[in-house]
Amino acid sequence: MKSSKVVNVCTLVLASCVVLVGCGSDKEDKTSEAVCNELPPLEVKDSYRVGFAQLWEDHGPWRDANTASMQDEAEKRGYELVFDPGTSSNPSEQVDRMKALIDAKVDAIFIAPHDESVLAPSVVAARRACIPTFLVDRAVDPDVARPGEDYVSYLASDFRREGEQAAEWLIEATKGKAKIIELEGTVGSSPGVQRKQGFDELIEKEPGMSILVSESADFNEDEGYEATLRLVKKYPTADVIYSHNDAMSFGVIRALEELGKVPGEDILVVSIDGTKKATQYILDGKIAVVVECNPKFGPIAFDTMEGYARGEKVALRISNVDRVFDITNAAEYLPEAY
Ligand code: AHR
Repeated sequence: MKSSKVVNVCTLVLASCVVLVGCGSDKEDKTSEAVCNELPPLEVKDSYRVGFAQLWEDHGPWRDANTASMQDEAEKRGYELVFDPGTSSNPSEQVDRMKALIDAKVDAIFIAPHDESVLAPSVVAARRACIPTFLVDRAVDPDVARPGEDYVSYLASDFRREGEQAAEWLIEATKGKAKIIELEGTVGSSPGVQRKQGFDELIEKEPGMSILVSESADFNEDEGYEATLRLVKKYPTADVIYSHNDAMSFGVIRALEELGKVPGEDILVVSIDGTKKATQYILDGKIAVVVECNPKFGPIAFDTMEGYARGEKVALRISNVDRVFDITNAAEYLPEAY
């Protein structure tokens, strides 16, 4: 049974020699499973069994819209999406779900890694198991899992640019004067790291602006609420809260109102994502600006996978272009928000 699998995979490799492939028996490997030493090919088929290793979060609207987009697109194309939503934000739980997809021998894997370092070896393990893997939404450590060698492509927003867009809007709106509390996303996640880098670098150049404190609230509404209650008391001169996602911003608004502050008047809230609720908050004057992070990856993800199967050259990095919503355009955007 096992040896016939080896024959099948290697036949596939020989038939696809125009594609970059490295398949063969690895001397260190004691089993008779095929091992790919380079990017595995993907057979052109009418239907695929595709694994989706979504990261687990406490069900914010962004993550739900992202999952729904992948599920809808798979269904539209008649593909089976092998998807286990997970149970914990501990990245090792996602490592276990990646292993389950590899053991299930799916045709290809999409992964949104919770943590850049912890999930990188799982991407390498998928390549070794001859399963072409695509990163969606979040990156892995490129020194461990190499683009174009261990995974095919990384499809996501440009998180650093999102941080810059938030800073550019704020610098203009405040004429370069602000005292900022920054609520970061998940520690070690690509959006958490890069949204901070992009924002902080531009703010540091402004002599009238300072970041009073910057700490993680894990992209989570309740943590955003707790952190705001504590930090606004500790830093009473703060007049801006830059929150790395909408879910945390909902907690920020709750906390500010409980503290008797008027969001939008006493403290400006700067957010990232573009959910329906945050867009409505712009119209209500509670959120000043939202930088978009589009979660609807399904169509581009599956188009990219099919292009790869056909042997087309696939870019190592595919970026979404994100917009900025404030009171000037929120009403127009609202109907398409999620
Ligand atoms: O990786 C994208 C980010 O993850 C979204 O901004 C956020 O809402 C989610 O937690």
